[in-house]
Amino acid sequence: GAAADSMSFHQDKLPSRPEIFDFHGVSMTHYFTDNWENIQNFQARPDDILIATYPKAGTTWVSYILDLLYFGQTERQEVVPIYDRVPFLEIIISSYSGKDLVDNLPTSPRLIKTHFPVQFVPKSFWEQNCRIIYVARNAKDNAVSYFHFDRMNNIQPEPGDWTDYVHRFMGGKVAFGSWYDHVNGWWKKKQTHSKLHYMFYEDLVEDTGREIDKLCCFLGLSRSDEEKKRVTDGVHFDNMKKDNMANYSTNSIMDFKISPFMRKGKVGDWKNHFSEAQSEQFDEDYEKKMTDVTLQFRSEI
Ligand code: A3P
Repeated sequence: GAAADSMSFHQDKLPSRPEIFDFHGVSMTHYFTDNWENIQNFQARPDDILIATYPKAGTTWVSYILDLLYFGQTERQEVVPIYDRVPFLEIIISSYSGKDLVDNLPTSPRLIKTHFPVQFVPKSFWEQNCRIIYVARNAKDNAVSYFHFDRMNNIQPEPGDWTDYVHRFMGGKVAFGSWYDHVNGWWKKKQTHSKLHYMFYEDLVEDTGREIDKLCCFLGLSRSDEEKKRVTDGVHFDNMKKDNMANYSTNSIMDFKISPFMRKGKVGDWKNHFSEAQSEQFDEDYEKKMTDVTLQFRSEI
């Protein structure tokens, strides 16, 4: 409805830090489960495009790429933040509802974001055989990015200190559950849903243009080299960092004095956070959980 047009809250009504609880076997918070019934009954359209990620894997980057590929530089780009152009389906914070935003999108196709593990995705996306793009990022950098995000985002659970956080991450006791289950669950789905494009943050960093080519191919889009170059340049980290419609600075749930949303945008920042002992323990646990050799991540490039 009309109220669902802005993620700005008055200081005295700022949403509070949520608790993690078990929801159908996945650690979740109420901001992403309060609208469960409506989300499960969501009616996808055949041309909807779903961008699915574990939090902090490069959602905003890929959202922006798709937005530019489909709609180019328009006036909407200058006034509507990326999180409202590509709504976050399951989020609900008082009257701010991702689903309402999707329902009211003026553009087509609809670009929709979700952080759900694969088994939570509303069934109509499968029934309508929608195109889905999954973005995955190596576990260590993903954990670091999520840690800083949880520090600065008031609708995320308190992360505690880094040592606590690493253990919570390894145990899947963070919002949207286990990273390991998430990336593996989606990888498995790719074997049966042909319209699933599984991509990696590290590949995007290595060669954004190449990944945009692959996306165009997957989406059946023909774009000139010039257009693609414009997209590649437009989504460069430095550009997105200073773009108020991409850097989340227009919302009031995040405290940018603690950490920026566009933080570093690098592969390998985990080396500045993990101690040697933490890294070894993490690797050992990782080997046990990541048994599918067809799914390989790079944590440096
Ligand atoms: P860091 O915290 O490591 O810097 P999400 O959009 O899923 O929340 O992911 C956010 C992460 O993606 C952040 O990682 C952010 O800096 C990074 N990111 C966003 N836009 C990017 C870009 N254009 N290039 C590289 N990294 C980007």
